[in-house]
Amino acid sequence: MAMQMKIYVPPHPLVRHWLAVARDKNTPSTLFKTAMVELGRWLTYEAIRDWLPTIDTQVETPVGVADASFINPQSAIATIPILRAGLTLAEGAQTVIPLASTYHLGLVRDEKTLKPSCYLNKLPEKFALDTRILILDPMLATGGSMMYALEEVSKRGGNIDLTRIISVVGAPPALKELGTAYPSLTIYSAMIDEEVNDAGFIVPGLGDAGDRSFNNA
Ligand code: PRP
Repeated sequence: MAMQMKIYVPPHPLVRHWLAVARDKNTPSTLFKTAMVELGRWLTYEAIRDWLPTIDTQVETPVGVADASFINPQSAIATIPILRAGLTLAEGAQTVIPLASTYHLGLVRDEKTLKPSCYLNKLPEKFALDTRILILDPMLATGGSMMYALEEVSKRGGNIDLTRIISVVGAPPALKELGTAYPSLTIYSAMIDEEVNDAGFIVPGLGDAGDRSFNNA
């Protein structure tokens, strides 16, 4: 059977709670940012469950010997926040995978064409084939921004089989495009919404996550 992109929507009350806070138009910017950080934390917690390399060993406790499993300190883990809105998700992700290297990618969509352009690319020249890569962006609307990011990752040898996306709200156009281009990709999202309107906003969505996170509204 042909491989198909996996999309997980973790049914966790904390994810539901912070999504509700983020969606509410009356949520002030400071609390919106907190919601994004928390969603970054809990979605990353879910996404790394079967993905983080560990070493099985034993440890001596004060009273005996126990089988033990540590996170492999040699494992290469990369987080890629897509600026601006992905920065807040990355803040939460960092609390669960502090060993990760962070590579920033600054993308902005043209308001009319909805095509992304890049104003900052701090990706490394080359990713090792075993690097676990987490790309963070709260919104997958048309999919243009994430497609751009994945192309940059692929060009640098990034292994899409080990790449996971953390998003808050995904929409059908993005999921269709990503799934067609990258069937081995895995997405963790707090919710999948119905549609993208003519202005490029996910409906019902949560508005402009970048503006709301940084009090630019
Ligand atoms: C928004 C959002 C995503 C992108 C999603 O970013 O944060 O990065 O659009 O849309 P797409 O799937 O149609 O590409 P924006 O360009 O508004 O920049 P910002 O994060 O700085 O607000």
